[in-house]
Amino acid sequence: MLDESEGDARNELSGTVAGPSVQAGSIYGGIRFYAGSRPSFPTPAQLPGPGLCAGRDRELAGLRRLTMQDIDAGYPFLLVITGVAGVGKTALALNWLHELREEYADGQLFVDLRGFAGDGDPMPPHDALGQFLRALGIDAASVPATQDERAALFRSLTTERRLIILLDNADSVAQVRPLLPGPGPALIVVTTRKRLPELARAVDGAHFLHLTPLDEPGALKLLSGIVSRERIQAEPDAALSLVSLCGGLPHAVCASGDRLAAHQGRKIARVVAELADDARRLSALRAVFDGSYRALTEDAARLYRLLSVHPPPEFEPTAAAALAGVNDGEVARLLDSLVEANLLEAANERFRFHDLIRLHAHEKLMEAESETTRQAAYARLVEHYLATQDRAVRAADV
Ligand SMILES: Nc1ncnc2c1ncn2[C@@H]1O[C@H](COP(=O)(O)OP(=O)(O)OP(=O)(O)O)[C@@H](O)[C@H]1O
Ligand SMILES: [Mg+2]
Repeated sequence: MLDESEGDARNELSGTVAGPSVQAGSIYGGIRFYAGSRPSFPTPAQLPGPGLCAGRDRELAGLRRLTMQDIDAGYPFLLVITGVAGVGKTALALNWLHELREEYADGQLFVDLRGFAGDGDPMPPHDALGQFLRALGIDAASVPATQDERAALFRSLTTERRLIILLDNADSVAQVRPLLPGPGPALIVVTTRKRLPELARAVDGAHFLHLTPLDEPGALKLLSGIVSRERIQAEPDAALSLVSLCGGLPHAVCASGDRLAAHQGRKIARVVAELADDARRLSALRAVFDGSYRALTEDAARLYRLLSVHPPPEFEPTAAAALAGVNDGEVARLLDSLVEANLLEAANERFRFHDLIRLHAHEKLMEAESETTRQAAYARLVEHYLATQDRAVRAADV
């Protein structure tokens, strides 16, 4: 409002003003407004450091090929990295994303969604959105109260932005979906121990990478990044045994390597002997497997425990059904949830435990199931195999 009654001009502006404002006394002629440049926001740089990433040349080359094709396509690019605890999902994601930082001028957002932290519940998207909005320059007092409003504002702010978003350790699709940016060229990476296939529908053309343990040369390369090359060359066989006892899992290789690095005079063969003791091997990974185990439904957790009774680590669904005393449909559902939690691997209609995970399942069995229950499960399994053999013999007689 312009007040000239007393000869001098006074300006007042009421209400909320978003962006620049113009105040004028008298205006003549047609008025046109042109949208100015987009509001700028701080450039977040939240990615943790990349750390060591040995033995992942093949995976990194595959990821580089993917981005070469899609990086300038102008629509969101989603990569979901799945795999068992400690296999190196976060390490791979960070290494790859650090290579791409220059291409994404609007910055990088990172959140640990605590899907399997074991020391608290998964982070609600509401909280993750609050963090992201503040990182994008929204004043804490102006962050909307409801999750829907937060997600809408996040999409508005991220539309057409060249942003990297790493959603680490996700627990569910419902947790991830509100954290997806608006349309535009953002690069989103989700890491998770679960499979989360429904994410394929969240972003058109989503890519999935299931990360498996390192092969022997890769695991040895990792070990030689922690322990000196000379020590490995002095005991090549022991070094090979060490990485194979670790099942090629980077987390376990790192834990063993750290032990060697802390004791310069210690022989690798000695650590191998220590690791050959199952309990010690498992201790390096118990916390991570516990996280996946706790997230299971009670039915799936029971099957997980009982499966450790099965002598060879590979089995068919019918054997699992016999062990748990449930029907084929029910066991298929439960086996799927164990595969989804990356506690079990599926291969050609059969299922297999990673040997460290089988040890973990066995530990849980001993903790949670009585001797009677264990024996009854074993008896059902033996009966199942006898009946299968009987049927095979009769079929051969025909
Ligand atoms: N290729 C690698 N080279 C060197 N170190 C690695 C590699 N992969 C993983 N690590 C190390 O192993 C440990 C476990 O890796 P990481 O945290 O990436 O696993 P993860 O699959 O993300 O596990 P989680 O499911 O628990 O989040 C970390 O200390 C990490 O730095
Ligand atoms: Mg991780």
